[in-house]
Amino acid sequence: MADSTDLLDAGELLDADALRALQLERLRNTLRHAYENVPFYRDAFDKAGLRPEDCGSLADLARFPFTTKADLRENYPYGMFAVPRERIRRIHASSGTTGRPTVVGYTENDLSMWSDMVARSIRAAGGRPGDIAHIAYGYGLFTGGLGAHYGAERLGCTVVPASGGMTARQVQLIQDLKPGIIMVTPSYMLTLLDEFERQGVDPRTTSLRVGVFGAEPWTEEMRREIEERFAIDAVDIYGLSEVIGPGVAQECVETKDGLHVWEDHFYPEVVDPLTGEVLPDGAEGELVFTSLTKEAMPVVRYRTRDLTRLMPGTARVFRRMAKVTGRSDDLVIVRGVNLFPTQVEEIVLRTPGVAPHFQLRLTREGRLDALTVRAEARAGATPETRDTAARAIAAAVKDGIGVSARVEIVEPESLERSVGKIRRIVDLRPK
Ligand code: DLL
Repeated sequence: MADSTDLLDAGELLDADALRALQLERLRNTLRHAYENVPFYRDAFDKAGLRPEDCGSLADLARFPFTTKADLRENYPYGMFAVPRERIRRIHASSGTTGRPTVVGYTENDLSMWSDMVARSIRAAGGRPGDIAHIAYGYGLFTGGLGAHYGAERLGCTVVPASGGMTARQVQLIQDLKPGIIMVTPSYMLTLLDEFERQGVDPRTTSLRVGVFGAEPWTEEMRREIEERFAIDAVDIYGLSEVIGPGVAQECVETKDGLHVWEDHFYPEVVDPLTGEVLPDGAEGELVFTSLTKEAMPVVRYRTRDLTRLMPGTARVFRRMAKVTGRSDDLVIVRGVNLFPTQVEEIVLRTPGVAPHFQLRLTREGRLDALTVRAEARAGATPETRDTAARAIAAAVKDGIGVSARVEIVEPESLERSVGKIRRIVDLRPK
């Protein structure tokens, strides 16, 4: 069985007490750094009547105010930086579906820490120095490509910076350069799967051994599909630009039981999304991060909007987070019933005769919202199979999620394919 427990770094070898002590020391430094150098934090702490030194324990962090995406937008572009602009070595930005993007910055030390964390992540996924890593996350302002790139170099891999897109060429490169590792969104991995098949190459025969998949939610059902079709280990990598990029948390290949949060650099809390109250480990809520070592852009209690729960460590001392169910922004409410695309993904992927490609369409019929699940037939699925699949999906959505949906089984290859992060929801409701 694959294993990642050799070559652990100093942070991974800490025992629980040493880890908590290190976190507290770093947390206090971060609060001080933010307070002294970022007017936004100074105002926010002052308003709350708090000084950095009021944080005497990790639990005290809960007394400090949250930071939201809106706060970052309001301080666009450089307002959240805690060091002079000249010390910033790199900028990334998150796309932002509406209005201004949010900009993040890194000092030289930040870039180095980030590379260390991605190197640690790839190693936990089963990658080793000397491996060839094919990186198909997009390069550019998105943190996926460059983040993975420098991490893989830091680990000692041979890096193929393929970036996203030009799918036929990606398949060619994988055939010719023989990477052991691929880093890509799970949805784009499915696009690659189609292309392998189109070119008549059995995807199980490639050199690939490990896939490090993230940047969007994906389910255990998707893991099974990718692992079987490619004969690889598929593991989950999590991160967000505001905190650093990819490499905030990573699943270990030997356990595949959720993602170890690299807690020596990123301190997690899970809070009730409505009240903001900190929830005990094990309870599901919104993930919140405080950076512990960042220089350029420390974040204090940044609300990710990602829903998950924290669990004790297994393969590492660090706590784990469960696979992200979805973002609170992806929550679809149809006739009062809450639903995440991942719930439909689970259903579609276990239905015989349909491919792992689907879309949720929201329309308005009269005064009611209507949900249509469009799923693609597998090549060669008979009309009877399609019919049975449509009925099975509709029944599972009704029984499992509690909402009636129309189900359309569409032709193979007819739904939009991913080149990066997939868009599952098509909202056609009048605004
Ligand atoms: O997506 C960073 C990244 C790149 C992570 C490559 C992993 C691999 P952003 O563009 O800022 O950064 O988007 C961050 O993507 O808040 C989650 O909603 C979602 N996300 C990222 N990783 C996962 C994951 C990158 N493994 C947002 N599972 C986050 C579920 C994920 N959602």
